[in-house]
Amino acid sequence: MNVDITFLPSGRKVSVRQGTSVLDAARRHGVPVRTRCDGKASCLMCKVVAHSSSGLSPMQDMERRKLAGLEAEGTRLACQTRITGKAVVELPEDPLRAAVRKQLMRQAEEDKLW
Ligand code: FES
Repeated sequence: MNVDITFLPSGRKVSVRQGTSVLDAARRHGVPVRTRCDGKASCLMCKVVAHSSSGLSPMQDMERRKLAGLEAEGTRLACQTRITGKAVVELPEDPLRAAVRKQLMRQAEEDKLW
């Protein structure tokens, strides 16, 4: 059975087999999720924010320990979270892109002063 998952902020909606991890679903459809450990739950780079817990597998003890309190904000590890139904997750902005965006905004503010 296939289920749909939507990746924000792009709004890209893809259909995958039920039980697929969020990381695998993203990879198979070209949605970039950062990872260094290749899904072994050790790099913690694949964090996503679940917009609802429905449609996603319950958090296991290991994932809860790794996230150490971030789960209250809906944070999940894409590599450890399985898609069980219709789900929506938000991907954090790439840190390098965020730094460039902030620098460009700062530059634009300085340009207004002249
Ligand atoms: S891919 Fe490394 S913790 Fe999920």
